[in-house]
Amino acid sequence: MSLTAPLRRPLERIETSLSRPTGPLGIAIGHAMSLQHYTLTAWCHRLLDPPAGASVLDIGCGSGNALRLLGRRCSGRLAGVDPSSTMVEMTRRANRSADRQDRLTVQQGSALDLPCADDSFDVVTAIETLYFWPDPRRGLREALRVLRPGGRLAVALEMTRDAAEVPTLLQRVFGAKFTQRSAGAGLSIVSGAELAEMVGDTGFDRIRFAVEPRRSLGWLCVLARKPDRC
Ligand SMILES: C[S@@+](CC[C@H](N)C(=O)[O-])C[C@H]1O[C@@H](n2cnc3c(N)ncnc32)[C@H](O)[C@@H]1O
Repeated sequence: MSLTAPLRRPLERIETSLSRPTGPLGIAIGHAMSLQHYTLTAWCHRLLDPPAGASVLDIGCGSGNALRLLGRRCSGRLAGVDPSSTMVEMTRRANRSADRQDRLTVQQGSALDLPCADDSFDVVTAIETLYFWPDPRRGLREALRVLRPGGRLAVALEMTRDAAEVPTLLQRVFGAKFTQRSAGAGLSIVSGAELAEMVGDTGFDRIRFAVEPRRSLGWLCVLARKPDRC
């Protein structure tokens, strides 16, 4: 038996739980994700620069941190969708003040079949979640459907094919193995160019992307707009 074998099962449980955090382990992972994704989320929101009055949907909202941060910038409705009932509850708790103001809706559901009306949001975000969607293109089409014409999309990931050409210590020790293993497990690991092309194929315009290849396992943020006539 290898020395790492006793660690493998707990690590596998954590990996599985990242794709759909549920129960007490899910709550712990939700808190850890809020910390781990804080700077990535803030970076994405800076690039997105949402209009002050925007109504916002966060897909794969997890523990609700992105909505909480967007709620400070945007005065419109805040909505979250996540397949995990544990994450739905965490998002409600993290956004109590928006809930009290009657501007919060959090629903259990999937990116592939958003429980939202057509043309209903000014901004749609998806942070650290697109890998887990069984069909990312379908999820992007759903994002396009629920955005108003002229509305903005931001997709951010911290594990991409854009990791540094000269890898950081974290990327050397951990990166390639983790990325390969995740891709082997069926996650969609993409580069900025690949995701931008996918977003363009879906029907978005004004597509641009930014990378921070030395952050985590390669930060990526793809930004796009729903055309006025769509
Ligand atoms: C790594 S967590 C990220 C959560 C949060 N966005 C953040 O940045 O902390 C991935 C999230 O994607 C959600 N997820 C998994 N499959 C999904 C799907 N098909 N549609 C929408 N969300 C999904 C999971 O339940 C989980 O909350």
